[in-house]
Amino acid sequence: MLKELLLRNRSYRRFYQEVRITSEGLTDLVGLTRYCASGRNAQPLKYRMVTGEEECDRVFHTLSWAGYLTDWAGPDEGERPSAYLIQLLDTGIVENCLCDDGIQAQTILLGAVEKGYGGCIVKAFKNESLRTILQLPDHLKITYVIALGKPKETVVLEEMRGKDYKYWRENDGSHHVPKRPVQDLLV
Ligand SMILES: Cc1cc2nc3c(=O)[nH]c(=O)nc-3n(C[C@H](O)[C@H](O)[C@H](O)COP(=O)(O)O)c2cc1C
Repeated sequence: MLKELLLRNRSYRRFYQEVRITSEGLTDLVGLTRYCASGRNAQPLKYRMVTGEEECDRVFHTLSWAGYLTDWAGPDEGERPSAYLIQLLDTGIVENCLCDDGIQAQTILLGAVEKGYGGCIVKAFKNESLRTILQLPDHLKITYVIALGKPKETVVLEEMRGKDYKYWRENDGSHHVPKRPVQDLLV
C-alpha cells in the first residue's frame, strides 16, 4: 500500500551505523529514479555514492541536522548514516532541474524504506567543503544530500494544532512531527 510506505517514510536522523548499505543496494535505489517524471525529459540528475566509513565520516561533518532541535548537534558516532547518495545536477545537460530533484529524492527514500532502510533529505550542507571532499568537476552541482541507513529512532506523526509546524523530541527520545489536517490543505 502506498499510504503505508509513505507513513513509514519519515525523516530519520539516527541509525544503526554498523549496518552498512552496499554499492549494489545504492545502485538499485538510483535505478528507481529512471522511472520518474522529468521536466523536458532531460534527466539531468546524477548520483555520487558514499559508502566507505571514512568518506561517510567526512561527508557527515559537512551536514546540519534538525535545525529546530537547538540542543542537539546531530547523531552521535555509532548512530550516523551508513551511506549517502549525493544528488547532482549535470549542468552540461541543462541549467536547472525544475522539480526533478524532489521527485527523485522521495523515490529513493521510498525504495530505501521498502528494503528496511530509511533516510533524510539534507539541504543544509557546506557546499564548498562537500565539493572538495567529493572532488566534483565544475559541471556537477550538488542539489541534495540523501542520508541513508537502518533507522534507530521512533518518529511519531501528530495532528498539527494551531500554527506551530516545528517538530520536537520527547524525553524518551521519540521524534514528533506535526502534520496539517487534510482540510487545511484544501483552498
Ligand atoms: C527539501 C528538504 C530539505 C531538508 N533539509 C533538511 C536538512 O538540511 N537537515 C535535516 O535534518 N532535515 C532536513 N529535511 C527533513 C525535514 O526536516 C523533514 O522532512 C520534516 O521535518 C518533516 O518530517 P518527515 O519527513 O518525517 O515528515 C529536509 C526535507 C526536505 C523535503
